[in-house]
Amino acid sequence: MGAKIPVGLVGVTGYTGMELVRLLTRHEGFELVRATSRTDAGKKLGDIYPWLQGRTLAELVLTKPDPDDIASACRLAFLAVPHGAAMDMAAELRARDLSVVDLSADFRLNDRAVYEKWYKVEHRHEKLLSQAVYGLIELNREKIVGARLVANPGCYPTSVILGLAPALENGFIETDGIVADSKSGTSGAGRKAAVGTLFCEVSDTFRAYNLTKHRHTPEIEQEISRIAGADLVVSFNTHLLPINRGILSTIYTKLRPGRTSQDEIHAAYAKYYQDEPWVRVLPLETLPETRHVRGTMLCDIGIITDPRTGRLIIVSAIDNLCRGASGQALACANLMCGLPLAEGLDLAPLMP
Ligand SMILES: NC(=O)c1ccc[n+]([C@@H]2O[C@H](COP(=O)([O-])OP(=O)(O)OC[C@H]3O[C@@H](n4cnc5c(N)ncnc54)[C@H](OP(=O)(O)O)[C@@H]3O)[C@@H](O)[C@H]2O)c1
Repeated sequence: MGAKIPVGLVGVTGYTGMELVRLLTRHEGFELVRATSRTDAGKKLGDIYPWLQGRTLAELVLTKPDPDDIASACRLAFLAVPHGAAMDMAAELRARDLSVVDLSADFRLNDRAVYEKWYKVEHRHEKLLSQAVYGLIELNREKIVGARLVANPGCYPTSVILGLAPALENGFIETDGIVADSKSGTSGAGRKAAVGTLFCEVSDTFRAYNLTKHRHTPEIEQEISRIAGADLVVSFNTHLLPINRGILSTIYTKLRPGRTSQDEIHAAYAKYYQDEPWVRVLPLETLPETRHVRGTMLCDIGIITDPRTGRLIIVSAIDNLCRGASGQALACANLMCGLPLAEGLDLAPLMP
């Protein structure tokens, strides 16, 4: 590889920003030259992330999020900031001809009205919605290659969509009555201080939250409807796990009557993902665990049929920060910049 491509990161002090820094420390094609924070501007990256000490990146001085400054130094920027804030920065950077990978939800939903209904924020840059490509590598690789604005998928939707795609495309399941029962580690809630994510509130307990109104619902419905070629409604239910990283989704579906055996469905899943480096369809009788994908791009999928209830149950596991956010964003950036898809992302899970 020749000279590294200069990239910027807006929102370096959050969990997804932190994860992008971790991944960029060993990337051969990108050099992080701008990292922004409104509160920590002026400090060095090594001051806020002591784990970087001894690396060149520790010396990078944080700046305030200024589109002119970012555009003067970078070819591509990652936006690791909350929804609402991301859309304005994306518009500023696109106006300066920068490529953008937005980790927020601001460009994931095609329909402005749906976005405004679920996120309770006005979409101020509707024109950019038609430019944005949904950055799920396995489904949209060709489009991502030519994109200048990528809407990086949400963490829960990544696990649910990858789990359902082969069953829907092959017509194994009914399109109604799908229930996704998902659990996430607490880094999914971001790094800002909040009572609900304090140690004593999340450790040694387990709870459901946001039932019937989680904002990832329309994103999941949009993408699985596209795959199925029909308008699908999903019951999407979320839970908070007392772990740092990881998402496990258990997805309950109804098998079409008189249809395929478990072996055939398993073979179809394996075939669907046979050329994908990061989706592992586990052998029958083996089900995914969050720790087997921790810190990686992997999505592990296990399937089982239950003849008694007529169901196909799909279990998928990802790391919310890597596969569900920053690693996926980096994979998209690799494709957008003509670099090998897996550059910087050939990672083994941290075990035990
Ligand atoms: N956490 C996950 O597992 C996950 C997964 C997928 C997608 N996402 C999405 O990725 C984005 C970042 O998530 P996160 O969990 O990393 O959040 P976070 O931990 O709360 O960090 C947010 C970052 O954005 C900066 N920021 C906040 N408001 C800003 C504004 N108005 N303008 C500019 N910068 C601002 C913050 O730094 P300063 O306040 O210092 O500027 C901080 O660096 C969110 O849109 C989130 O929905 C998160």
